[in-house]
Amino acid sequence: MKNTLIAPSVLAADFANLQRDIEMINASEADWFHIDIMDGVFVPNISFGMPVLEAIKRHATKTIDVHLMIVEPDKYISTFKKLGADILTVHIEACPHLHRTIQAIKAEGMKAGVSLNPHTSVDLLEDVINDIDMVLIMSVNPGFGGQSFIENTYAKVQKLKALIDKKGASTIIEIDGGVTNKNAAQLVEAGADVLVAGSYVFGAADPIATIADLKKITKI
Ligand code: DX5
Ligand code: ZN
Repeated sequence: MKNTLIAPSVLAADFANLQRDIEMINASEADWFHIDIMDGVFVPNISFGMPVLEAIKRHATKTIDVHLMIVEPDKYISTFKKLGADILTVHIEACPHLHRTIQAIKAEGMKAGVSLNPHTSVDLLEDVINDIDMVLIMSVNPGFGGQSFIENTYAKVQKLKALIDKKGASTIIEIDGGVTNKNAAQLVEAGADVLVAGSYVFGAADPIATIADLKKITKI
């Protein structure tokens, strides 16, 4: 049976009660904290930056999964290591020298993730897939929580899984955007290993039970 990892996205937390929400995730069955960093340039929104991540890290007891939606991510790799990132994911669309960026992330002792926007083909990963620890497939256009899931994602995950198997890579697949109990199992069947969920978890009446349910329905 597959143990799918669940990564609540802190973007949907209550920032006026951040410590409470972090402790709630600590106490839940969630596996990772998903941290969305947006710069207002790569995506049309600004989320939060270093001081907020520093505060999250002070309370979080689980893996810190940082998703950079910023231009020129290379400038900040060592900063995010110091802030406590365990996994650092950059967007392929923001990295003209992706291979170099991946090596720089690993040299800092972090796992390297590469994210693809909905329009970006997994074929672009053919020559680097063996160097990547995780591929993050965006199942919405990045920039905002609470958007509707793009149905083409299932086919994209299957195609990526086939590429990973063909290349004998150990890369894991994370899905981000619009994840709910309606699509979670089908995503795992298609090949997903990690599911990010923001508004579905934090918007629920009982987030702890919602996380437990996601864990249960993705054990397939
Ligand atoms: C979107 C972010 C997501 C977002 C997901 O750009 O990368 O991580 O927080 O939120 P939901 O689960 O609400 O779509
Ligand atoms: Zn994200």
